[in-house]
Amino acid sequence: MKKQIGKTNALYPSLTTILGTTINGRPNFITIAHVGIMNHGDPQYLSFGVSKSHFSNQGIIENKVFSVNIPSRDLVVETDYFGIMTGKSTDKSSVLETFCTEGYEAAPMLKRCPVSMICKLARTIDFETHDVFIGEIVATCADEEVLANNKIDISKVNPLLFDMSSIQYWSLGEPVAGAWNAGKVLKKK
Ligand SMILES: Cc1cc2nc3c(=O)[nH]c(=O)nc-3n(C[C@H](O)[C@H](O)[C@H](O)COP(=O)(O)O)c2cc1C
Repeated sequence: MKKQIGKTNALYPSLTTILGTTINGRPNFITIAHVGIMNHGDPQYLSFGVSKSHFSNQGIIENKVFSVNIPSRDLVVETDYFGIMTGKSTDKSSVLETFCTEGYEAAPMLKRCPVSMICKLARTIDFETHDVFIGEIVATCADEEVLANNKIDISKVNPLLFDMSSIQYWSLGEPVAGAWNAGKVLKKK
């Protein structure tokens, strides 16, 4: 039997990301799991729900650019640290080595993350408690080790998934079936 469980947000797990910004000349990193894919065309837009109470918002709004880093499960400690310490009182700039791409120096990326994207701020949606930053992807870099035929191999990235119910990081399981393919068996002949 089904049970009503109130207005629980059941849209988990979500991908755990680390956004990189620069504030007062110093790189700052924030863990963000409330992420979305806004469209899958050209240009490509991503969304990030960031509480207005955080330090990072200032950097994203001022620079109009930020990085989106995808940590692997071996970075769980650093990822969590970026999510429990605020740049208002803690210098998080030297926890992990950073790098930049030309023209986007205000969006520091994390060397240890196998995949990083640069997003230009396209829009900010002003919700009661959160800024939802819509970023347009302008560049993506990936470690060669996580690529297969020049595409990102998610099993090699081994990303951290976040679940709010258990308040735990999870990892990927096995692939289940081909997408846009498994359903074909139900097509009427
Ligand atoms: C796993 C995890 C996921 C998080 N996801 C979000 C999120 O999606 N949105 C948000 O506003 N804060 C999120 N946080 C909280 C911020 O990362 C945290 O408050 C951080 O210290 C703010 O850093 P800053 O003040 O330097 O910007 C998350 C924290 C953790 C540990």
